[in-house]
Amino acid sequence: MTSPLKCLIDDDDRYQKSFQLYLERSSEHQCTRDFIHNTLPDILASVGTGKSQLNVIGVGSGEGTIDLEMLSQLCQKHPGVLVDNVVVDPSSQQLNDYKVMVSQKPDLEHITFTWNKMTASEFEEQWRQKNVTKKADFIHMVQVLYFVKDPGATISFFQSLLDKKGKLLIALASGESGWGKLWRTFRSQLCYNEHRFVTTADIKSLLDARGVPHQSYELQTGMDITECFTEGDQTGELLLDFLTKVQDFSRTASPELRQGVLRMLRDPQCSVETGGRVLFNGNCEVIVLDALS
Ligand SMILES: C[S@@+](CC[C@H](N)C(=O)[O-])C[C@H]1O[C@@H](n2cnc3c(N)ncnc32)[C@H](O)[C@@H]1O
Repeated sequence: MTSPLKCLIDDDDRYQKSFQLYLERSSEHQCTRDFIHNTLPDILASVGTGKSQLNVIGVGSGEGTIDLEMLSQLCQKHPGVLVDNVVVDPSSQQLNDYKVMVSQKPDLEHITFTWNKMTASEFEEQWRQKNVTKKADFIHMVQVLYFVKDPGATISFFQSLLDKKGKLLIALASGESGWGKLWRTFRSQLCYNEHRFVTTADIKSLLDARGVPHQSYELQTGMDITECFTEGDQTGELLLDFLTKVQDFSRTASPELRQGVLRMLRDPQCSVETGGRVLFNGNCEVIVLDALS
């Protein structure tokens, strides 16, 4: 069914505002950092053992903060190796911010960066056209599969690029989180064509159906959404946009849809209420795949 609602990603200004607010309100980046510092090093310990150069591909890297943290752990696990880091992102603004950050960091001389302003599928097309045979040791796609047309095909392609002992890391909203409950209930009424509302539950069932082994790690992430329940509150409206991925959801959704979403957000399946605040279960999950055998 075609939705009459406008997708949030089509209004970059509003998307950035609501995303920044989300980051302030949610512990997502902190939880991702904790995972990178506490769990990722063991995952990365075995990649490319004995090689003098490690090949990394970042898919949908954004402004690169999370990428650089992962690269730092990779380098600590494999001291002295050179890293060839290929960055893929269609947003020139994000790529530019990433480049600026790299230019300001003093300790990256053993890492080379190749910038690709393109989507994951454009990268795949280019890779196939040029018949590239290079293999990758570590590929990551953090909070990106929502934006690709066919997440299953994207995973298959990037997994096929892994060298033996290589790892593919996928991070997304957990299927068990409030995101999962909200999106499973309402996705057909939101902007499904532009935003896939995919969670790790979808990815895990796809991998299970294909018999692809994987490990997964749930990251506990909370978000204070109290203002969503105060009509006319600007913070609440921006947060609602981010939760539903709809531009100006409060004003453009039908009253039935708006009430349904608000009821679900307050439901114990999605949130807990404590000290007068409503805390949304925004858990993420990381899925790690090995190279195809
Ligand atoms: C939510 S951000 C995540 C950024 C970063 N990985 C992080 O966790 O901080 C999603 C990123 O995916 C990029 N993106 C959007 N569509 C894409 C596509 N089809 N292929 C690859 N990247 C895409 C966006 O430009 C954006 O930088």
